[in-house]
Amino acid sequence: MRPPGQTVMVLNGPNLNLLGQREPAVYGAATLADVERLCAAACERYGYALDFRQSNHEGVLVDAIHAAGAAQAQGTLAGVVFNAGAYTHTSVALHDAIKGADVRVIELHISNVHAREPFRHRSWLSPVAQGVMAGFGVRGYALAIAALAED
Ligand code: DQA
Repeated sequence: MRPPGQTVMVLNGPNLNLLGQREPAVYGAATLADVERLCAAACERYGYALDFRQSNHEGVLVDAIHAAGAAQAQGTLAGVVFNAGAYTHTSVALHDAIKGADVRVIELHISNVHAREPFRHRSWLSPVAQGVMAGFGVRGYALAIAALAED
């Protein structure tokens, strides 16, 4: 069990601002604000503060990973729950950022990417992630926070 009082960063990539209206049959009806509330409740359970972010821009996500690495090195961050959206399947830059920042990341997908199109089966994040959560809907965010806390 990790010491309480740390922060968990929940980082969301492109198009996740559209949750609730975007392909609801795949991603469900919850909005990103709902996800933030769910993450806040999960963090509260473990005594974590929440740093919840979303960006559609790869470089902004790289910067967030660097900041997370610095915070983890200082002992103030427990780790990152990262739904990189489509950048999961394309971004060597995010792979390198996670590796370079030496930050603990749980890769997260709302949908089961392995049951979808073949181009979603490849992840640049998985080789540098501590673990992968996929297919549990938005509940997966809470499960990933629990995984960080109970490790
Ligand atoms: C996603 C799956 C990705 O393939 C997709 O590009 C997304 C969302 C998910 O949460 O299931 O944007 O990461």
